[in-house]
Amino acid sequence: MTNTASDTQVKVWDPLVRFGHWALVAAFAIAYITGEEEGNPSEWHEWAGYIAGGIVAWRVLWGLIGTRHARFGDFVTGPREAIAYLLGLIGGHTKRYIGHSPAGGAMVVALLIMIAGTVVTGLIADPGEAAKPQPSVTATADVPSREAGKAGRSHEERKRHREHEGEHETLIGEVHAVLANLTLVLVILHILGVALASYVHRENLARAMVTGKKRVEDA
Ligand code: HEM
Repeated sequence: MTNTASDTQVKVWDPLVRFGHWALVAAFAIAYITGEEEGNPSEWHEWAGYIAGGIVAWRVLWGLIGTRHARFGDFVTGPREAIAYLLGLIGGHTKRYIGHSPAGGAMVVALLIMIAGTVVTGLIADPGEAAKPQPSVTATADVPSREAGKAGRSHEERKRHREHEGEHETLIGEVHAVLANLTLVLVILHILGVALASYVHRENLARAMVTGKKRVEDA
């Protein structure tokens, strides 16, 4: 059987893009699920956040120096093109792109920005074990070890300082939670967009993100 142009496959997504995508999916899912717990974040939440942040930083670098379809220059367009593509997609008829479509590209950028914002606010709200003040050997029974470094202060001063720190942590923690939820909304829109584009163009885009391949031309 001979291959026709419509079933000839072309390599689009390099292995780093594909592995990075599914690792980001896993890291975001774990961070989101474990972020629901009350009190201090679990180690799972912290590590999933670090990994998501690392993948985003790496993806930005790869967007500048990576393979053809991984580069921002290949898929970042103006809002006009993105909206025109989306309207066409909803209408069931629009141009097919081998790399990210203009709307897909806009979503990639939005997701990377939102995940970066979520990770940074998470780090500020809770810098992790390494950055926390270590218990001091000079701690006394009536001074909690966390506060031992500030033992020179009066009781009132220490109380005011704790209250101030608490307010700051609560506010930045709330911003962190809002960003995480907005990211989830984007993720849902992203999945719906992928499903719609897959239907309209008659190709399984999720599978392409696994194999890295797409068909060359429209069937
Ligand atoms: C089961 C759920 C998901 C599926 C099926 C899926 C599928 C896809 C597909 C098919 C693409 C390529 C779109 C195109 O052809 O233009 C893509 C790109 C992307 N997706 Fe997802 N996605 C999922 C979940 C997520 C989640 C949870 C995130 C982020 C937390 C995410 C972030 C991204 C990013 C950043 C890209 C750009 C990839 C790159 O260029 O490196 N995706 N996704």
